[in-house]
Amino acid sequence: MLKSTNPTETKSWKALKEHYQKISDKHMRSLFAEDTKRFEKLSTTFNDILVDYSKNIITSDTLTLLMNLADECGVKQAIEAMFNGEKINATEDRAVLHTALRNKSNRAVLADGEDVMPLVNAALVKIKTFADQITAGKWLGYTGKPIKNIVNIGIGGSDLGPVMVTEALKPYATFGITPYFVSNVDGTHLAETLKKVDAEETLFMIASKTFTTQETMTNAHSAKDWFLSQGATEADVAKHFVALSTNAKSVADFGIDTNNMFEFWDWVGGRYSLWSSIGLSIACTIGFDNFDELLTGAFEMDEHFRTAAFEENIPVILAVIGLWYGNFFGSESEAILPYDQYLHRFAAYFQQGNMESNGKYVGRNGEAVNYQTGPIVWGEPGTNGQHAFYQLIHQGTKLIPCDFLAPAISQNNIGDHHEKLLSNFFAQTEALLNGKSRAEVEAELIAQGKSEAEIEALAAFKVFEGNKPTNSILFKKLTPKVLGSLVAMYEHKIFVQGIIWNIYSFDQWGVELGKVLAKKILPELSGEENVATHDSSTNGLINTYKTMRKG
Ligand code: F6P
Repeated sequence: MLKSTNPTETKSWKALKEHYQKISDKHMRSLFAEDTKRFEKLSTTFNDILVDYSKNIITSDTLTLLMNLADECGVKQAIEAMFNGEKINATEDRAVLHTALRNKSNRAVLADGEDVMPLVNAALVKIKTFADQITAGKWLGYTGKPIKNIVNIGIGGSDLGPVMVTEALKPYATFGITPYFVSNVDGTHLAETLKKVDAEETLFMIASKTFTTQETMTNAHSAKDWFLSQGATEADVAKHFVALSTNAKSVADFGIDTNNMFEFWDWVGGRYSLWSSIGLSIACTIGFDNFDELLTGAFEMDEHFRTAAFEENIPVILAVIGLWYGNFFGSESEAILPYDQYLHRFAAYFQQGNMESNGKYVGRNGEAVNYQTGPIVWGEPGTNGQHAFYQLIHQGTKLIPCDFLAPAISQNNIGDHHEKLLSNFFAQTEALLNGKSRAEVEAELIAQGKSEAEIEALAAFKVFEGNKPTNSILFKKLTPKVLGSLVAMYEHKIFVQGIIWNIYSFDQWGVELGKVLAKKILPELSGEENVATHDSSTNGLINTYKTMRKG
């Protein structure tokens, strides 16, 4: 049971408020000028990963106070409770044990008094056996051809993780297996995907924790209809459809042999499930050994998170720094900016990871909170973002803390592309830190031969205030292990923040209402008669739609 503490009523919060008054006018430029060892003091390494958090509006006092806050809010106890399988997802009466899925120590992990490790290990053996057959070309389709394409049908946590990881680790996909992902109930997604694959060589993975999600079940049924329309029979379905789910009954009802079901358990949250059987598409694309490396990378970060003192604990440090901006500086969003094209779905992945976890206004005491909780998370790879939205980060009216991520070694060495990419990474974080003062702008304009009047007219627009916070996460190479560690690092950051904000990070009741209403509206769309049961806007939209679709 997690305790309930309103963070704003702690001693540390009050101390942080006072501290904020003192520090909020400080410019990071002066913090760096005052301490030439700032980088050494405010950066840390973990295996092949460097985390530099020195470009933040913090001093060592700020960190001490923030760590006190984490302490007062019971973060240490909460970490233990999670790893020990306590039912910290209280509103769903569930343990939260995605860490058990990558528990390379094989220490017993109890859920409801039972060690889950034998289940986890057996599921991994099943994943390995299957993935080995697929990657070796030994799993044959209904005409005797090996599988070349995988179509994962799932949405949210049953889609975003596998998409993100298979994109990120493309250089490791050396087995001739191409993964496709269909998530949207918009028929276009399925139709366009099916144009690219041949039924004889395609394996469909129906990925759904509940096996009831409307989008996934609709796509799954349509995929099966398509498969049967390609000359295959019901008896061939077993060779081409597998299920990744916790719901054996619905899998059987759908017509998938439960031998072809890869299971996981209710203590694996959807958005934390890529480490489970939901990762089957990953294992079949990059091979089981690489999937296992991903798990190892996450496990090593878990061990660090579980055992390191707060002052050295990377997820805790990142969590409290994020909270510092959201709760004291009033920032509303956070950008994740990977300078690695392979990580182009990383921000989208943590958009769900973070926003579905910490987008909550009700505290663990059941009452509305009186402070900000989870941020809006967004981002795109650099350098593309620089030519799109960085203007607002540099000169807009909003404070947007950013995480910059990049590999030191590119997977694709073409000319000086990587140096150019990384020079942009370093330049952006430097520019966001220092900005450009009025004096610097004027000197530049004078050097360009501008008149006094021209300088007066232009200078203000060219000033960069700077003092925009960034974390720089530099890793040697984007290997499966490094990726595993990075994902676990962000997962635990989200966890720590949820604990301090006194919310439940592992439920997602906020996605239910829309689903229920869509079910109610669906039959109303087929009749001819006008609908009058909703508010005037919804009635108007439905009725206009019905008129428009007549053509
Ligand atoms: O709509 C939200 C959600 O419940 C997510 O939390 C989850 O990842 C997704 O839907 C898919 O759910 P399922 O795996 O049960 O199909």
